[in-house]
Amino acid sequence: MAAVGTCYNAYWQDSPSTVCLRFDIHPDHETSQLLPLLYGSIRSLLARRKCEFRRLKCGAREDDSAMVRFLLGQGFHQGARSPSSALQVVNFDGSACEGAYERLAQDGIRLKTLSQLYGEEPEWKRKLRDLRWKIVQDVPSTEPFAEPTVEEFEEMVLKDPALDEEAFFVALSADRTFIGMSNLWRNDPAGMRLDAGLTGVVRSHRRRGIATALKMRTIQYAQSCGAETIETSNEEGSPMLALNRKLGFEPKPARVDFTRETAA
Ligand SMILES: CC(C)(COP(=O)(O)OP(=O)(O)OC[C@H]1O[C@@H](n2cnc3c(N)ncnc32)[C@H](O)[C@@H]1OP(=O)(O)O)[C@@H](O)C(=O)NCCC(=O)NCCS
Repeated sequence: MAAVGTCYNAYWQDSPSTVCLRFDIHPDHETSQLLPLLYGSIRSLLARRKCEFRRLKCGAREDDSAMVRFLLGQGFHQGARSPSSALQVVNFDGSACEGAYERLAQDGIRLKTLSQLYGEEPEWKRKLRDLRWKIVQDVPSTEPFAEPTVEEFEEMVLKDPALDEEAFFVALSADRTFIGMSNLWRNDPAGMRLDAGLTGVVRSHRRRGIATALKMRTIQYAQSCGAETIETSNEEGSPMLALNRKLGFEPKPARVDFTRETAA
């Protein structure tokens, strides 16, 4: 298999008129030769199926010059830019962690893993879905998000084979309200790279160090399980990017959204 081209509606977004494209090309093959083939096939498929859409969207790494050149040549425009960054977990200095956890404890805030919640919080699934939805709506995005039902949340988050319930942390206030979350995903089968998932805190509890403490927990977890790096990408100028830099994440090439509007 030399390359795969995919088109889909992003089920997690409320944007039925946008078709997302994805191209994965084996490094032994020439991107510039295979891309036109894949793109042409997808365009024919969309035409054959009479798909109605107004926008094509394709993410690319900004240093993938063949892909970027091809997309620009096809009339795509550069949109949101999300710098990637990585933390070598061995370099993380955990000396500030205890102080950060202590400050939360003084406010009655506790951090729990998902596996702890299973036994301690009968309503955990609905509460986690509700928390995630509150946070998702504040994540910078060019497309609106779709609100998942509890069943959809279960399908797309809890049944993801990369989920690690010991690396999924939730912050609870003194009255057991779910107020924040941060997690790592095991997309790398070797377990050397862990991918940061959604981090967020409800609006009423921001700027109190909760996200910082949650992120610290994920990093300490990564250290304890022998992972080498945590990788992530965050929209340019976002608070999350600032927070990750503070924690020692180092910049890598950005991911960029390219979009092409089509005639209605
Ligand atoms: C980003 C977010 C998680 C921060 O949560 P938080 O609990 O308020 O963060 P903290 O209190 O731990 O902040 C730590 C540091 O991050 C930076 N920071 C946090 N929010 C910021 C903001 N709105 N603007 C600029 N810097 C910000 C600051 O450096 C801050 O330190 P300071 O308060 O001493 O200045 C929160 O704003 C949020 O949930 N946003 C919506 C969801 C989202 O976009 N998540 C990221 C996608 S994964």
